[in-house]
Amino acid sequence: MSWIREGELTIIERFCANIIKAGPMPKHVAFIMDGNRRYAQKCHVERQQGHSQGFDKLAQTLRWCLNLGIREVTVYAFSIENFKRSKEEVDGLMDLARQKFSRLLEEQCFLNVCFAYTSRHEISNAVREMAWGVEQGLLEPSDVSESLLDKCLYTNNSPDPDLLIRTSGEVRLSDFLLWQTSHSCLVFQSVLWPEYSFWNLCEAILQFQMNYSALQKARDSYLEERRRQQLERDQAYVNKKLQQEGSVSRADSRRRRSLLQKCTALREERIQGFLQALEHKRADFLERLCPVSA
Ligand code: IPE
Ligand code: IPE
Ligand code: MG
Repeated sequence: MSWIREGELTIIERFCANIIKAGPMPKHVAFIMDGNRRYAQKCHVERQQGHSQGFDKLAQTLRWCLNLGIREVTVYAFSIENFKRSKEEVDGLMDLARQKFSRLLEEQCFLNVCFAYTSRHEISNAVREMAWGVEQGLLEPSDVSESLLDKCLYTNNSPDPDLLIRTSGEVRLSDFLLWQTSHSCLVFQSVLWPEYSFWNLCEAILQFQMNYSALQKARDSYLEERRRQQLERDQAYVNKKLQQEGSVSRADSRRRRSLLQKCTALREERIQGFLQALEHKRADFLERLCPVSA
């Protein structure tokens, strides 16, 4: 039987889920699952037991998300900083991850796992990829933009999270999805991760709903500003071209418009070419890392 689908909501949980679902729902929720060791200490069990219950809690939380119609979940399971913990703890976490994630990922198409991840590493890697694109002549320096950086992140196939939840009472992001959460609702809850409940999740969603219109407004105005900046960059590019031709003052608006369209189409073409090359580069890297035996 499936690990995630087994067990349905109780009647009262289902009733509340239906009420919550009448409001705007987050489509993508991210979790910083924190507090496993404090939970183990509180319950006088081994640290590894705390981590194990943390993984089981993830399976249960995914079931709630599924029931609430949340289609995408991203979890922070292990940060690069976590390698600094004792060898025994890191080995134990690796074992658990191997066992539990292979089972979870078999059943899931909506779970993204950030493992051995930090956001600053992800962002600097994206910047390096764009620099590589310019170096290879695939991109013009003026193609480098926030929207291109979005496409170079590991999360490029997912929309930004609408809601980010951190448990255990810590009020920091610990280098998780720093770029992707600038317009997300951030909810910090004091419950330790292995004790997370359906009601904690509902409370976080209610906070999202209470802030929904402000979040939406901020996101829309950011996107509008981004479009405006891109247009300005394209116009500057056209002006430079006309200047080179010595025809700035003579250029009529129709010629300007057609140059602008051409410049936008060429930029799109360069970006698509670069993204394809990047995909191949990443596939080659993964192939070298874990070769598929013939
Ligand atoms: C989160 O719980 C799990 C991982 C970081 C792998 P912790 O292990 O950080 O537990 P606390 O926060 O010390 O209680
Ligand atoms: C953040 O938790 C990483 C994960 C939950 C996987 P930590 O417990 O490692 O973070 P800090 O050290 O409290 O910032
Ligand atoms: Mg912690």
